[in-house]
Parts: sequence; C-alpha cells; structure tokens
Amino acid sequence: MLNKNLIDLEDLSTAQIDKLIRKAKKIKQSPADYRHTCDGKILATLFYEPSTRTQMSFQTAMLKLGGRTIGFDNPMNSSVSKGESLKDTITIVSGYADVIAIRHPIEGTAKASSLYADVPLINCGDGGHLHPTQTLTDIVTLSCEKGRLDNLKIGVCGDLLNGRTVHSLIKTLAKYENNSFVLISTPELSVPLYIIDILEKNHCKYEVSHSLADAISDLDMLYMTRIQRERFKSEEEYQSQKDVFVLDKQKLSAARDDMIILHPLPRVNEITVDIDDDPRALYFKQALYGMYGRMALILMLLQDEDFLIYPRESTLCPTRCSNPKCITQTESYLPNLSYEKLGMTMCEYCDKRCQ
Ligand code: CP
Repeated sequence: MLNKNLIDLEDLSTAQIDKLIRKAKKIKQSPADYRHTCDGKILATLFYEPSTRTQMSFQTAMLKLGGRTIGFDNPMNSSVSKGESLKDTITIVSGYADVIAIRHPIEGTAKASSLYADVPLINCGDGGHLHPTQTLTDIVTLSCEKGRLDNLKIGVCGDLLNGRTVHSLIKTLAKYENNSFVLISTPELSVPLYIIDILEKNHCKYEVSHSLADAISDLDMLYMTRIQRERFKSEEEYQSQKDVFVLDKQKLSAARDDMIILHPLPRVNEITVDIDDDPRALYFKQALYGMYGRMALILMLLQDEDFLIYPRESTLCPTRCSNPKCITQTESYLPNLSYEKLGMTMCEYCDKRCQ
C-alpha cells in the first residue's frame, strides 16, 4: 500500500489542502465528535531538535482524538546516542506506532526517513528546509481569520534564508490566486533562490524590501519570524543580524486595521510584548489553530482512504548532493535521488540544485 507521508505541502493539491482546513474547522467546532476517532492508535514523536508547539500540539492532537503517544524529545535519551542510524530508528519505530512525526536539524531528513517508514510520516521541520505543519497552522489561521487564502498581500519578515516556516508558507500560498509577497529581510538573510523560482513559476508578484517600516502600510498579513540563531556559522554573524527587524507600536501604527500579524513562534525580540494585546496580533491564537490542523491531518492520514499523497517522481542520480547541510552528507547509505524542475536537477531530499 502507498504510504501517505506529509513531507512537503507541495505534494498536496489545493483541493486536499482545502479539505484539511475544512476538517480542522469542523473539529474546532465540535471536538467531542472526534474524541474516539483514533482509539487504539499510537503516534510517535521523534524530536531530534527542541520544540514546544509542534511536539506538544501533535501529542495533544492525538490524545484528543483518543489515541496515545510515544517518542523522545532528546535523541541523547534514545539509542541515537549510541550511534543508531536514522534508517534503523525509523524502521524500529514503524513497528511500534501507527504514525510518526519527526523533527530533525538536518535538511532532507523527513524525506530520507519516509524511505524506511512503513507507516505515515509527518515532517515537523527538517533543518532550515521545510515545516509543512506550521504552514497548515498558518493557513487554518488565515482561513478562519481572513476568510480566504487568495488575493492577499503577504509580508514575510526576518530570517528568510534559514526560516523553514517561511519557505513552506510561500510555496503553499503561491498556489492560490493573486497572492503577492513582500520579502523583508537583510540581503544576507534573503530567501533561497529556489523559493524565488517557485514565485516566478507561479507568476506571483513579489518585491524585496529591507525596511519593515516602508513595507507595512498595505499588507493583509505580516508574518514575522525569528532570526534562527542555531543555523548561523558563528555567534558574530548572528549578532550582526539579530534585532534588525523589530515590530513595535510605532511601526504597527502605519499598518491597516485589518492587517493580521502571525508568527510561528518562538518569539525572541522581533515583536515587542506591548503589541500582544492588539487585536491584530494573532500569534498565540495561531498556535491553537495549529492543534486543530494537526488533528485533521492525523485523521486524514489514518482514516481517509480518499486522501492520497503521491510523492513526486525521483530518479537515481550518479552524484551525491553537494549541500553540506543535506542529510545525504551524514547518512551514507541513502540513495542519491534527484528530480527535474524547470530544466534543473534538484536533490530529492533537500531541494537544493545538484551541481
Ligand atoms: N513554530 C514552531 O515550530 O514552534 P516549536 O519550535 O516550538 O515547535
């Protein structure tokens, strides 16, 4: 049987994404109706990297559906500390759980894990690459709070290079009609080229800005992000980038009354605390929407036989991916897999262009 893995929301049609959102809204409206829908099922959360929201909202989601959870939130408390490979860990946990949610600091790990999972596997963040269930959180929030996923002017601000939530969000919203993007970052932290390629392929209008104050006035949504300290090569580099973009009351005064502010969280300094009570600040509510989105996803993966996810076609490639942050650099047994996009050969795991 074809496994249903959620590695990248790109693998879903907009009809499937809309179905997930509808289901999340139904669950939010009548949670008691879903209390026993996953009785007897087990979710494994394998978190090789810290998390508050993603891990706990997945665990809560499964508990609220009647299921149970196993897993680790520190790989050093598992046999990973003794040198167990990703392949072996996933193979073993596949035998214990009905669905696996994995977060890992290395790009492409979710795709690599899915090769060895006999149960549905969900990408909960793979390095600076993707975070599809955060995007699910974001679009459930958008749908509930703005009433649409199209015809939006979207500002994304902060660490657009390393921020996996931004990559997944842009890729998804680029599929909807007439969305335009303002990419607000320093030149050093601008979005990777493959994201620009996606915007262009989808004929999305976009502009690059280095000033939040200039960009804020005509946005429907402002998506703030943290500067990803853990992805920098040196503390010095991080220090030069942190606190460049801070949303405060003064900047917010130039925004429209109906602009919403989202943030995947955790927040560091990029939104001042005095904004939290502004009705436009929806980031805490957003985290709650995420739990309903994840309940919907678990149900679709485990119970909806019509909800099929077809992975893109990939082929064996003669050369290894050259991205030093790709999982192929550390898990030597992985096959070299690639796919073709826009006439270029891309790594199947991390989506970087193969040299
Ligand atoms: N947004 C998000 O992924 O938060 P956590 O790192 O706390 O899971």
